[in-house]
Amino acid sequence: MDAADVLVSLPVTAWHGPFDPALRQRALTALEHGKVLVLPDLPFLIAADEGDLLRPDVSGAERKNVSFDPGTGRLGNIALAPGEAGRLTALLRRFAADSAHLLADLLPDYAATLEQARTSFRPNEIAGRSYSPRHDDRRLHIDAFPSRPLRGKRILRLFNNVAPDGAVRAWRVGEPFEPYAQRFLPHRRPLPGSAWLLERLGITKGRRSVYDHIMLGLHDRGKLDAAYQATAPRANVSFTPGTTWLCFTDQVLHAALAGHCALEQTFHVPISTMADSALAPLRVLERLTARHLA
Ligand code: SIN
Ligand code: FE
Repeated sequence: MDAADVLVSLPVTAWHGPFDPALRQRALTALEHGKVLVLPDLPFLIAADEGDLLRPDVSGAERKNVSFDPGTGRLGNIALAPGEAGRLTALLRRFAADSAHLLADLLPDYAATLEQARTSFRPNEIAGRSYSPRHDDRRLHIDAFPSRPLRGKRILRLFNNVAPDGAVRAWRVGEPFEPYAQRFLPHRRPLPGSAWLLERLGITKGRRSVYDHIMLGLHDRGKLDAAYQATAPRANVSFTPGTTWLCFTDQVLHAALAGHCALEQTFHVPISTMADSALAPLRVLERLTARHLA
């Protein structure tokens, strides 16, 4: 595998449309087929008086990233004085708004049902840190989150590298979703009543479906398989500062190997608005298991 198998690059130079219909079609098809869409000419502009915020110690000790809720305007996991927090809020609010405008104009088919979830700032260097295997995003994985059941809804994430020192963000992209799912499909079903209990205890936000159970199993089993991590098909790719990239991270097998100072915006996409919902992990897994999963 090499970069040309996993990346589709488009000449987008503005966070707003209008975009040419053929370009929009290429974007939609690439994303739904599990490619990483790269927009090398779409920087996110950091103002001169914001440069000092691009440093690792803006994030608190408990987690590696700063989170921002575009709905409430609240920052999470920061270690900043109030004035600095206000400036970081403004930066992330602007990034969240730019991202939403880009998706509305580039992927108008999704607009009616698209949900904007968290924004994050990822200031810390990835390389050289230690993580538990399950939390180590330097290992190939698909995204699935224990506390946030999606019941088939898609995870679409948009990134931008804003590293002030020119550092690239180095990723690895793996094989397509279906062979990965076939290899790691968990055999154990969830215990009866466990989804209800997790919800009652507040461990999950909403009820975990069998789909969510399987996706968590795929995430964990792939990361914990050292032989797979060492030998799996992969393409190493890197994103220079000033690049925007996006993909369905619940479908694209990915690992983030090195880099610091990235911005990220998560969206959720109901599969009913996909051009071809048969490509969604939910439908692929339903086909592989011959069961209704969400
Ligand atoms: C990930 O989703 O695994 C991390 C991506 C990144 O921070 O570059
Ligand atoms: Fe991930």
